[in-house]
Amino acid sequence: MTAQLIDGKALASTVRGTVKDAVAQLKAEHGITPGLAVVLVGSDPASEVYVRSKGKQTIEAGMNSFEFRLSVDTSEKELMGLIERLNTDPEVHGILVQLPLPAHLDSKLVINAIHPHKDVDGFHTTNVGMVGTGQDAIVPCTPRGCMMMLAQIYPDLRGKTALVIGHSNIVGKPMGRLLLNADCTVIVSHKSSTNIPELARMSDIIVVAAGVPGLVKADWIKPGATVIDVGINRVPAPENGFKDDGTVKTKLVGDVDFDAAKEVAGAITPVPGGVGPMTIACLLVNTLSACCNLNSLPEPVLLGA
Ligand code: GUN
Repeated sequence: MTAQLIDGKALASTVRGTVKDAVAQLKAEHGITPGLAVVLVGSDPASEVYVRSKGKQTIEAGMNSFEFRLSVDTSEKELMGLIERLNTDPEVHGILVQLPLPAHLDSKLVINAIHPHKDVDGFHTTNVGMVGTGQDAIVPCTPRGCMMMLAQIYPDLRGKTALVIGHSNIVGKPMGRLLLNADCTVIVSHKSSTNIPELARMSDIIVVAAGVPGLVKADWIKPGATVIDVGINRVPAPENGFKDDGTVKTKLVGDVDFDAAKEVAGAITPVPGGVGPMTIACLLVNTLSACCNLNSLPEPVLLGA
């Protein structure tokens, strides 16, 4: 059996198109343009790539993009001062501080300084608590994207057994809460879990965000299960040859042994082109929603997002 591919690239493109139309309508009817402020402290190369991509897609959706690039030695006081300004700026509806922050900055403190209604990452304690208690709140982008992908397969998630591998604050924990809110039976596993293959074999749904290339093997997967791969790992790919400087070329792989897994799973997300594109699409959804809420306007209906 070959699994159905859940095409995140195509779904993200549809979501971005819907957001773009809603943004145009918001402008035409209310004269409001959603604005997203992204703050990058330091120059971590991976973060640079994400921030550039976020800015580009924000503008393509017709929103305003405000980028703040601060030096690696920025003090907590300076960063908090910027957040305070953005909190009260009526042109800014979403604020995202790219993580990880340099070690001298306390990310919990910084994130909790963002106004909860502008916290488009959904990382503020208020939003975390509200999602955790099943209330409407801003949902973290990657888990939101995963839920949209699962909605492609299951009209109703009730009663499904779901295993989340990885318990980060950004993906694993919120993913577990969202699946629980959807009435799944949820297991959240992590580095100290001793029987993950066994737990996986019991599960209708596996969501893996472990950062370990090829961790999930075909024989962990219950035949017909849905596998959502959040991993994005760059690994050497000698089969692709060598770069001009003599070093081996690399490729992106997920946390699932994809080629073998797709023969057992019922549905699976590829890497690249799976969860990755959904994350920024959901950031745009969150920014649009935040803008509507801040202006006391109803949220547009967005594809079950
Ligand atoms: N670093 C890695 N993923 C994320 C994310 O979703 N949001 C922020 N702010 N930083 C990240």
